[in-house]
Amino acid sequence: MRRAFCGLLLLLIGFFASQFVLREEEGYFDIPPTAQRTGDPEAGYRYLLYGDVVRSGIPLSLFQTLSGENADELGRTGDSQGLPYMFNAVEAPNGVKVAAPTCLTCHAERLNGQLIIGLGNNTSDYTQPAPSALFDRAVEMRFGKNSPEWEAYLPFSRSQKALAPYIRTQVRGPNPADKIFAVLAAHRRAEDLTWIDSPQFSLPVQVVPTDVPAWWLLKKKHALYYNALGRGDFARLSSASAMLTMADSAEARRVDSHLVNVIAWIRTLQPPPYPFAIDTPLAAKGKMVFEKNCSKCHGTYGQQPTYPNRVVELSRIGTDPLLAQAYQKYPEYHTWYNRSWFAQGPYKGELRPTSGYIAPPLDGIWATAPYLHNGSVPTVADLLNSAQRPKYWRRSFDNSDYDPERLGWRYRTEEKPSSPGTYDTTLPGYGNSGHTFGDRLSDEERRAIIEYLKTL
Ligand code: HEC
Ligand code: HEC
Repeated sequence: MRRAFCGLLLLLIGFFASQFVLREEEGYFDIPPTAQRTGDPEAGYRYLLYGDVVRSGIPLSLFQTLSGENADELGRTGDSQGLPYMFNAVEAPNGVKVAAPTCLTCHAERLNGQLIIGLGNNTSDYTQPAPSALFDRAVEMRFGKNSPEWEAYLPFSRSQKALAPYIRTQVRGPNPADKIFAVLAAHRRAEDLTWIDSPQFSLPVQVVPTDVPAWWLLKKKHALYYNALGRGDFARLSSASAMLTMADSAEARRVDSHLVNVIAWIRTLQPPPYPFAIDTPLAAKGKMVFEKNCSKCHGTYGQQPTYPNRVVELSRIGTDPLLAQAYQKYPEYHTWYNRSWFAQGPYKGELRPTSGYIAPPLDGIWATAPYLHNGSVPTVADLLNSAQRPKYWRRSFDNSDYDPERLGWRYRTEEKPSSPGTYDTTLPGYGNSGHTFGDRLSDEERRAIIEYLKTL
C-alpha cells in the first residue's frame, strides 16, 4: 500500500515535472545544422579585397579624380590601391574599369582607431537621400551618354534610383539591408534574375532598421539573419548581394562560386580581444551568474563551447516586433526567393520566416555596440537593466568614444530628438523594449556578468 502510494507520488511528480519542463520550453525552438560547402579561406579573403560581387559602378578614372590620392587601408595593390576600403576596382562586362561597392560597405567598421573587417558598420547614415543624380551628372559630363563608361555605370545608377525612395532610415546608425534586398527582388525575374523596370510587387515605404551582425559569429550559426530567416547554403544566401548590378543568373552563379570561399574565410574569423583591463575574480563570479541565467539561450564559452541556435518567440523575448513580423505581413519577398534561381540545385538557399529572434552568440560582444537587432540600446549595462535604457540617446559616432564600464558607446540622453543623429526608440521598428532577463539580477550580479562578457 505504502509502496503503491510512493509509486503514485513519483508518477505524479514526474508528470508535473514534465509539464513544468514543457512550459519552460514553450516559446523556443532550436535550429538544426545544414551541411555547408567547403571553400578556400585565402581565396575568399582575396575576393573580398579585389573581387567583383558588384560589377558596375563609377568609372575608375572619374572616381580617382574625385577622391584623390589615399593610402590603402587594406594594403591592396594594383587598381584598387588607394580606393576607400568599401570599393574595389573591377572590370565591368564591357571592359571599362569601375569602382564598385563591396560587402565591406556594411561589414567593416573602425573601433578604437582600427579598421576591423567583419565588424558591422554602425555609423552609416541612411537618413539622407543617396546622391545618385549627382553621380549621373558627373559621369555624363565627363564621358557622355553614348560612351562605354556610361554603359558600365548604368546598372549601378539604375538600382540606386530604384532603391532611393525606399531605404531611408529615420535615425543614423541602423542599416536598411533587408529592404534593399526586397526592392531588388521586386525588380528581378525569379527564374533568371534579369531586371524588370517596374516593381512586380508593391513595396511598403517603411524600412525595417537593423544593426549589422559581426561576421565572427557565423561559425556557430545554423541559420542567417536576426530572425533565422536564411536557411540552407550560406554562400548562396549571401550571393543575393550581387542583385545590385548583376545582368542575370549566370552572373549570380559566378559570384556564388566565389562566395563559397568568402564564407570559408568568414568562418575563420575571431572576435577582437577586449583591449582594457579585466577584473578576473569578478569575471569568474560573472561566469557563474551567466551560466545560471543566460546560457540556456546564449550557450557556454571557453574550451568546449556550446551554442543552441535558439529562436525565442516574440511573445517571450518582447523586443521590437517589426522585423519578425515583416515577413508575415509581406510574404511576397520570401515567396519570390523560394521559387527563384537562388533556391534551386543542391546548394540552395531558402528563406523561412520565424516569429521571433535568434539569441546570438556573445563572442566579442564588447565590440558590437549598440545592442539588440535594431541597435536600440547603447550599452550592455543598459541592456541588462531595462528601466535604465535611454528613450532618446545620442552618441558622437566617433568609435574611440568607448565606455569600458558600461560596455558600449558613451552617450547622452535627450528630452526629445534634436536630429537624426539621436536614436529615437519611440519610432516603430526602433523600440528598445523586451529582453528583461537582467532585471531580476542585483547590481552586483550585473556588474559581474559585464566583467565576464569582456572575456568572451
Ligand atoms: C547594405 C549593407 C550590406 C551589404 C553590402 C552586405 N551585407 Fe551582409 N548583412 C547586412 C545586414 C544588415 C545583415 C543582417 C540582416 C538581418 O539579419 O536581418 C547582414 C547579414 C549577413 C550575414 C549573416 C550574418 C548572421 O550572423 O546572421 C552574412 C553571412 C552576410 N551578411 C554576408 C555578406 C556578404 C558576403 C556580403 C557581400 C557579398 C554582404 N553581406 C553584403 C548588411 C549588408
Ligand atoms: C530566453 C532566452 C534568453 C535569455 C535567458 C537571455 N537572452 Fe540575451 N538574447 C536573447 C535573444 C533572442 C536576443 C536577441 C533579441 C533581439 O535582438 O531582438 C538576445 C540578445 C542579447 C544581447 C544583445 C546581442 C547583440 O548583439 O545585440 C545580449 C548582450 C544578451 N542577450 C545578453 C544576455 C545576458 C547577459 C543574459 C542573462 C542575464 C541573457 N542575454 C539572457 C535571448 C535570451
